[in-house]
Amino acid sequence: MKLIEAANYEEMSEKAADIIISQVKEKPNSVLGLATGSTMLGVYKQLVEDHRQNGTSYRNVRTVNLDEYIGLSPDHPNSYRYYMNQHLFAHIDIPLSQTYIPNGTSDDVEAECQRYERLIESLGGIDLQILGIGRNGHIGFNEPGTPFSVPTHVVELTPSTRQANARFFPSFEDVPHQAITMGIATIMKSRHILLLASGTEKAATMAKLFEGTVTTDVPASVLHTHPNVTVIADQEALSLV
Ligand code: GLP
Repeated sequence: MKLIEAANYEEMSEKAADIIISQVKEKPNSVLGLATGSTMLGVYKQLVEDHRQNGTSYRNVRTVNLDEYIGLSPDHPNSYRYYMNQHLFAHIDIPLSQTYIPNGTSDDVEAECQRYERLIESLGGIDLQILGIGRNGHIGFNEPGTPFSVPTHVVELTPSTRQANARFFPSFEDVPHQAITMGIATIMKSRHILLLASGTEKAATMAKLFEGTVTTDVPASVLHTHPNVTVIADQEALSLV
């Protein structure tokens, strides 16, 4: 696991965007694995700015998102589809038909998980997957205790994760109880993984991650077993490491 230290959120976002831009320039039809949450907002802002100023093109890029809430339609302001359109896709030249996110309103969510897993395979797998990290060490929505072997699946969100994400919803009660997420097995097949962390609220989790023990109690710790992982974290997130 390669660690890149950044002074702050801004620098973390710039360094991450640089890696994504290089990937797209090197391989214009890259499959990018994308994530949501506040950590990613700065990265997407950088990508949009770079697209405007330097014309980096995403016309042939395909994207697959990590996860989606069950029960939220694509036009629901708290769905991850809405987030992606609003913060990235609407501002770059990627055709929306090349952007994939699990369908949280499918009648058969189990079948949707299988379809999504096959879809990723049919795209040729993920070239570069970006990840945030939950306060309990989750990646995607793979909560502590999830076996590393699981592919895309339905998860029951823990109260602490619902609480952490409640800030985006009108109230805690509005946060869905379930989500579809790429599994750890799905994430681990990515050729390069980029994990981002910023702020003091991630410091304890980052300390656990860098202890080095690989355990399902800290889902992100599985990344120690992947050959090509880059972590970009700011000083606050690394303050207990
Ligand atoms: C959610 C997402 C994760 C994300 C995490 C951290 O639970 N499913 O993919 O990494 O939140 O979010 P934030 O970046 O807002 O701290």
